[in-house]
Amino acid sequence: MADRPGGPATFPRPVLAANWKMNNGPAQAKSFVDAFLQEYAARNDRTIVVFPPALSLPAVAAGVRGRTDIRVGTQNIHWAQKGAFTGEISAEMARDAGASLVLVGHSERRHVFGETDDMCAKKCAAAERAGLAFMLCVGETLEQREAGATESVVLGQLEAGLSGLRDLSTVNLLLAYEPVWAIGTGLNAKPGDASAIHALLRSKLHDIVGERAAAIPILYGGSVNDGNARVLLAAPEVDGLLVGGASVEVASWLRISGVP
Ligand code: 13P
Repeated sequence: MADRPGGPATFPRPVLAANWKMNNGPAQAKSFVDAFLQEYAARNDRTIVVFPPALSLPAVAAGVRGRTDIRVGTQNIHWAQKGAFTGEISAEMARDAGASLVLVGHSERRHVFGETDDMCAKKCAAAERAGLAFMLCVGETLEQREAGATESVVLGQLEAGLSGLRDLSTVNLLLAYEPVWAIGTGLNAKPGDASAIHALLRSKLHDIVGERAAAIPILYGGSVNDGNARVLLAAPEVDGLLVGGASVEVASWLRISGVP
């Protein structure tokens, strides 16, 4: 289903999202999509999302054109519409290149590139301005977890990220809980722990957007692979998965896309 600027998009759940990070350039992206589509028949009981690097966006968007069950997103945007911001792209540019959603506040953006809650809020607002859905990522570091600060960290990131939106009744929003200590480490949150944090996030979402909170997909991310995807997806409140390393190779991504 195409995103309608100003109107909530629907994302049949589970939402299975591939964050390729800095992998799969334009030529590889095209081969990936061709191979994926050969094996993955359209189905309406889930949503597949691919976040390629920005340069590969047009190739992926062209490859999946006509497949309403597959969405294409960009991994990052700048909050301005245009201007002197060397190396950046705007939400409008991403949309014009074929993106229908944006990843905001990924832990690598926050911790490697110094992205703050304030910047995340501006990016969410920029996505709203451009009529794009956005997936806001939240998650605690190991230090914060050990200090017992997990709940306050993720709730703070959620509240801050949504603080600059104009109209909470129409905004197209997904959340991803990605504990920083679980990303790329082979360590997972236990399904029960993920469920507890997701329930907490949903309750805060309810405070912010009311009844719509129930329809907002909350994904888990952090060392998801084809061996643990099923059990994580079966956990209460886990509406999908945001997958890094195991989404880069088509064979592995096909196995995850087919779970359960
Ligand atoms: P890994 O699946 O490689 O741990 O990465 C998770 C992630 O950061 C997805 O956005």
